[in-house]
Amino acid sequence: MSFLSGRSLAKSYFITKSLWYKEEIRAVHEVSIDLDLENEPGPDRKGGNVGLVGESGSGKSTLARLLSRLERPSEGSLYFQEKEIGYLPESLLLPFRREVQVIFQDAAASLNPRHSVEKILSEPLRNFFPGLKRKERLERIAEILHQVGLSPDHYSRFPHEFSGGQKRRLAIARAVIIHPSLLVCDEVTSGLDVSLQGQLLNLFLELGDKFGVHYLLVSHDLPAVRYLCRRILVMYAGRIVEDFPVADTGSSVHPYTRALLESEPVLDGSFSPRFLPGEPPDPSAYPPGCPFHPRCRERKALCSEVQPGLKKVGENHRAACHLV
Ligand SMILES: Nc1ncnc2c1ncn2[C@@H]1O[C@H](COP(=O)(O)OP(=O)(O)OP(=O)(O)O)[C@@H](O)[C@H]1O
Ligand SMILES: [Mg+2]
Repeated sequence: MSFLSGRSLAKSYFITKSLWYKEEIRAVHEVSIDLDLENEPGPDRKGGNVGLVGESGSGKSTLARLLSRLERPSEGSLYFQEKEIGYLPESLLLPFRREVQVIFQDAAASLNPRHSVEKILSEPLRNFFPGLKRKERLERIAEILHQVGLSPDHYSRFPHEFSGGQKRRLAIARAVIIHPSLLVCDEVTSGLDVSLQGQLLNLFLELGDKFGVHYLLVSHDLPAVRYLCRRILVMYAGRIVEDFPVADTGSSVHPYTRALLESEPVLDGSFSPRFLPGEPPDPSAYPPGCPFHPRCRERKALCSEVQPGLKKVGENHRAACHLV
């Protein structure tokens, strides 16, 4: 049984261009995935963590919002522990929200500036565990503050009294205090200096060990994804084009994935990255056939005519490409 599954998920936005014309932006389409969180943690501690990568505009955040039911899909189904939840009203989503929490890059901005740390961290406990006594709540708050590296003396402080890195830790504490099974993280390490990024990734691993939290890490940062995740999903033009185990980055078969991996700079300068020429397609007018074919060095005639489906190409490995 999968923890969370999408079947042919799609999301379109409509932008008013004139009185008579609305343009359809197809942000996500035909996405079918299973997130099984059961993978054994193993010595690398990565468990069932999944990374979601792709260029800007490829639909990563939209897919993350669909999987965390912050938005309803336009088409398709979302199953949480085998139950369809894609179109349920918010009032029926409580069991799902208890297990699936979300944090965004601007998580710090979502902390209410007028609420103290105690109030910020009490709120999710009150919502999801209304039976807890005040003493138990305070114990849980002290525990989570300690876990995320903030001092228990920070109880009565307000968000503006923290640094940017500390605010992110507080936002993580707020999401993890209810011990969810999955934390969807959209670019949470972006815009931080390298040492803070590393600290947050290690914090994620520690919270995974301690509370059994798994992650869906949406990121531009391939090294971060490699560090935290065991599986990578690659998005292009609103679709998943490859789904493969991190351990085998050398085995990626999609020309787009290989171009992404080749464009990754190496710090010691021993290798000069090759950047992928061209632009991703306009989401209101995808080209016929494979959406990547105009930029693909290896395209064949078929690629401009027929859209390749996501097929199994090996153990735990799927790719959408006519060349494989
Ligand atoms: N609320 C919205 N209204 C209209 N269009 C939207 C909306 N949200 C996203 N889009 C469009 O959907 C497409 C996918 O956007 P999305 O934010 O999912 O991409 P992304 O992969 O997360 O990009 P980035 O890496 O820059 O965060 C883009 O073309 C974007 O302009
Ligand atoms: Mg995004």
